[in-house]
Amino acid sequence: MNFNLKPLVLTALFAIHSSLFTSAAPADYHVVPLPQSIQLAKGPAFLLDADVQILAPAELQREAALLQQYLKEVAGLQLPITDKRAKKMRYIELGISTKVTNQEGYMLNVSQKGFRIEGGSAAGVFYGIQTLRKAAANGTEFAAATITDTPRFSWRGMHLDCSRHFFSVDFVKKYIDLLAMHNMNVFHWHLTDDQGWRIEIKKYPKLTTIGSQRSGTVLGINADLDDSIPHGGYYTQQQAREIVEYAQERHITVVPEIDMPGHMLAALACYPELGCTGGPYQVGHYWGVYKDVLCVGNPKVYEFVEDVLTEIMDIFPSEVIHIGGDEAPTEKWEHCAKCNSLNLKHTTYQGFFTKRVFDFITAHHRRVLGWDEILEASPADAMIMSWRGSAPGSQAAQTGHDVVMSPTSHCYFDYQQSKETSHEPSRCSGYIPVEKVYALDPAPDSIPADARKHILGGQANIWTEHLFTEGMVEYQALPRMSALAEVLWTMPEHKNFETFKERLTVFTRLYELYHYQYAKHLWPDRQLPSRWLF
Ligand code: ACM
Ligand code: ZN
Repeated sequence: MNFNLKPLVLTALFAIHSSLFTSAAPADYHVVPLPQSIQLAKGPAFLLDADVQILAPAELQREAALLQQYLKEVAGLQLPITDKRAKKMRYIELGISTKVTNQEGYMLNVSQKGFRIEGGSAAGVFYGIQTLRKAAANGTEFAAATITDTPRFSWRGMHLDCSRHFFSVDFVKKYIDLLAMHNMNVFHWHLTDDQGWRIEIKKYPKLTTIGSQRSGTVLGINADLDDSIPHGGYYTQQQAREIVEYAQERHITVVPEIDMPGHMLAALACYPELGCTGGPYQVGHYWGVYKDVLCVGNPKVYEFVEDVLTEIMDIFPSEVIHIGGDEAPTEKWEHCAKCNSLNLKHTTYQGFFTKRVFDFITAHHRRVLGWDEILEASPADAMIMSWRGSAPGSQAAQTGHDVVMSPTSHCYFDYQQSKETSHEPSRCSGYIPVEKVYALDPAPDSIPADARKHILGGQANIWTEHLFTEGMVEYQALPRMSALAEVLWTMPEHKNFETFKERLTVFTRLYELYHYQYAKHLWPDRQLPSRWLF
C-alpha cells in the first residue's frame, strides 16, 4: 500500500499547536507592545495553575470572561470566576482604581499570593489582561513584579477595506480579535467604494441588491482582461451591530467610513440620478480612481447622503464618522450645469460638499473625520487622516485639527514587505518592511509642541484590491501590526528594534495558536513555500 503520511503528520502538529499549554517556565513581561515600566520585586513567583481563581466585581465580568477564555487558550487552564474572596485562595484580581489616572492605563502587581490588575477604567483592565495573556505565552511562573503601563496615543487603529473584496462577519471578528491582542482601540471599517457597497441602508435597498455586486474583476493590476466572475456581499444592519458589540466588548470603537463624494460608483450604479451625467454606471471592475462622482450641485445628493448617514449613525455609536473625501476628480463637476449653477466663489466643489456634510454630522453631535484632501476646506473641528505622507497631518495639526497619521510611506500594509516579491500575495508595488513600520514616529519633535498635542495617534490601512482571501489579509497585517502596536503604545525612549524582534518571536506563538497567517521574513528558518500560506 502506498500511504501518504504527510496529512497525518500535519494534523498531529496542528493539534499540538492548538494550545500552548505553557508550563512552569517563567512568564515574560516583555511583551508586544512593551509596557512602559516593568519593576521586578523580591520574593517568590506567582504560579498560574488550576488552583487560581479570577476575582472580579460585577462591572468587570466581561473582562473576567475574556481573561478566562484567553487563559484556557494560552495555558490550557479553566479558571473559575468569582466575586467573593475566600481565605487561602490565590487570585487574579481585577479592579478599577483612581490611582491609575489614564483611563486606558493599568498597573499589575504580582506576588506569590496573587496577581492584581488595576485599570483606570475597564479598558485599562483589559490591556492589563492582554499583557498577562501575552506574558503567559512564554510560561506560567510569574516573577514578583510591578508593571505600570499607559498608552502613548489615544488613537491606535487598523483599517480594513471590505469593498474591494468582501470579508465575512466571522473574519471581521477574527480581525478584531487581532486588534485586541495588539492593544488597538479603533477599527476603521471601509464599507463603500467604487467596486462594492457593503452596508445595508434600509431607505435605499438598491445599494445592496445592485451596489454590493460586481459582475467581474479586472485581472492583475488593471490588465485588459476581466475574470467575469461575480463578486459581492454586504453586511446587514443586524450583522454590523453585532460587530460593533463584539468590538465594544474588546474596547474597540468601530469607525465606519462612507467614502464621498468620490469613490461612489457603486452607489451611482444604483441611483444614477446622483451623478453629474446621469449615467448609466456599473459597479467598478477595475482599480484606481473613477471620474464619476456625486453631483455636488444636486439637492437630491444631500438628501441621499443625509439619509445614509442617519442610518449609519444609528448603527454605529462611534463619536467619529469617516466621510472619506480622497481622490475626487473635479472634471465632471466642471462640466455639469447643476454644479456650475452653485456659482462657487470662495470654495471648491469638494469644499462646498464637505461643509454641507460636516454641518449635518456635527448637528447630530458626532465628529467628522476625512482623508487629508478634506483639509482644503474644512472647519478646524474636522479630524484629518493624513495618508499622502505625514506633511498634511503636520500642517493640519498646526492649524488646530486633530490628526490621525496614516502615511503611505509606513502604514499601507497592502504594500510589499519583502523585495523578493515572487512569493508575495500582494501585487502592490510599494515596499514597507517591518523595520520601517517600527521606525515611524507619528508625532516627531519636528512638529511644534502645541501642534503635536493634536496628533491623536496613527493607524495602518489594508486595502484589498489584490487581497482576496482571509489568509492574504492576515499575511499583509502580520507582523507589521505588531510593530505598529508598539509605535502607538510604547514611549519612543523604550523602543528598540533588536529587542522588539526577540519579543515578537515569542509573540508569534500567539499568531500560531490562533491560526493567523504571517510573513516570516524575520525568521528565514520558518519560511514555507508560498502555496502553504493561503
Ligand atoms: C487612499 O489611500 N486613497 C486614502
Ligand atoms: Zn454635478
